Amino acid sequence: MADLVNVDYNTSIPNNVNLSEDRRVLKALEKWHPGYLNWWSNMGPEGFQESLVYLRTAVSVDPKGWAKFGYVKMPEYRWGILLAPEEEGRTIPCGEHAGKPAWQEVPGEYRSMLRRLIVIQGDTEPASVEQQRHLGQTAPSLYDMRNLFQVNVEEGRHLWAMVYLLQKYFGADGREEADMLLQRQSGSEDHPRMLGAFNEATPDWLSFFMFTYFTDRDGKMQLEALAQSGFDPLSRTCRFMLTEEAHHMFVGETGVGRTIQRTCEAMKQAGITDPYDIDGVRALGVIDLPTIQKKANMHYSLSLDLFGSEISTNAANAFNSGIKGRYREAKIEDDHKLERDTYPVLRLIDGKVVISDEPALSAINMRLRDDYVKDATGGVNRWNNILKKEGVEFQITLPHVAFHRHQGEFAAIHADPDGNLLSAEEWEKRKDEWVPSKADGDFIDSLMKPQWETGKYAGWISPPRVGIDNKPGDFEYVKVSGVASNA
Ligand SMILES: [Fe+2]
Ligand SMILES: [Fe+2]
Repeated sequence: MADLVNVDYNTSIPNNVNLSEDRRVLKALEKWHPGYLNWWSNMGPEGFQESLVYLRTAVSVDPKGWAKFGYVKMPEYRWGILLAPEEEGRTIPCGEHAGKPAWQEVPGEYRSMLRRLIVIQGDTEPASVEQQRHLGQTAPSLYDMRNLFQVNVEEGRHLWAMVYLLQKYFGADGREEADMLLQRQSGSEDHPRMLGAFNEATPDWLSFFMFTYFTDRDGKMQLEALAQSGFDPLSRTCRFMLTEEAHHMFVGETGVGRTIQRTCEAMKQAGITDPYDIDGVRALGVIDLPTIQKKANMHYSLSLDLFGSEISTNAANAFNSGIKGRYREAKIEDDHKLERDTYPVLRLIDGKVVISDEPALSAINMRLRDDYVKDATGGVNRWNNILKKEGVEFQITLPHVAFHRHQGEFAAIHADPDGNLLSAEEWEKRKDEWVPSKADGDFIDSLMKPQWETGKYAGWISPPRVGIDNKPGDFEYVKVSGVASNA
């Protein structure tokens, strides 16, 4: 039955927003649906569309027990529209309207700003599915393959979430934007996705894990900021998306962790103590730690770029209008207006990296990025605990924020991972020490051999400590064999 917590499965589009009584929006979404399925079959996971995958589907927005697990063919996944329950008496949390009742309809003066934020968020969701579409073919286990597909179907659902907002609240131009979201393509020359990191390839599984750890975490921070929006439907949508997003970062953190674990074990077995004996380690069929560090450098720096310019009028306007808040806005103890406050920003002034106090309103992006850096540190520490436990002398570190940047203050300069400025020449000469080279990519690629036997894992990655949904590691998470026999 339809109520605001449980999901109505009677319409073609599962939802908890009472679509069966909102004929106009239901019709618009039904019209969009075939194009979506078309996109999924053309640009979604390559192969496996007929395989049974053990996936979770959202059946409620109740934090305790919101999902059920079961085998489903991906094109038959019940993508739906789910919003966190309305909070009674919710007010606009920040900016010049702080304290007034949250908007249930789009505030006219902020319409285009709001639409743009929703479109940018929406654009990232299908983009990552496109970037990851080849990975099923080289999955190191059925467990990993299942996690990839889980992330993919949920990114698909996040696209639905943004498309619902566009269709419901933005009329004809919302419908047009919804169509465009299916037309842009990651890496396309003519119609690329809107943000840089979402046009980069995800060529191998270590890239996938780094992407879900670092880049999905940017997504998390953006969703956290939008969950603080004074436009209540956006806030409620993002709050529920965050529930799903947590798993994506789990996949990334544990994926990198298991890669490190396996490398350490192989090194110990072979009696290699020097992590920089790269040829020796690679000969064992595992990924050497310096290369894992380079991958982290790469994905971390690309993800920092997603936060935009450190000093930004757009960000100030979004905050001041109450459309986008800070990370955990409601828990911050200040006046939530920031009219006279300052915030320390790392800037490039006269060719030097210095901390400069800037108006806090203009530094909203910087603050969110700082929160991101803190958030990203936790998993890195856990990776280092694995190294410590295994007795391997190596530490994964996050590079300086000036390193390898293409947006903001440091886009114009080159820096090493410690933040020391380099000439363009020096950078060219040394960049292979810090970001993956073609040869590094080729080596990783050589390890990407599929392992689809139930309970088996490719040699470069350790099995997970626990399975999904309390299932054992040797559970048949994807019925790949079904494909052949059904064909
Ligand atoms: Fe997402
Ligand atoms: Fe995600």
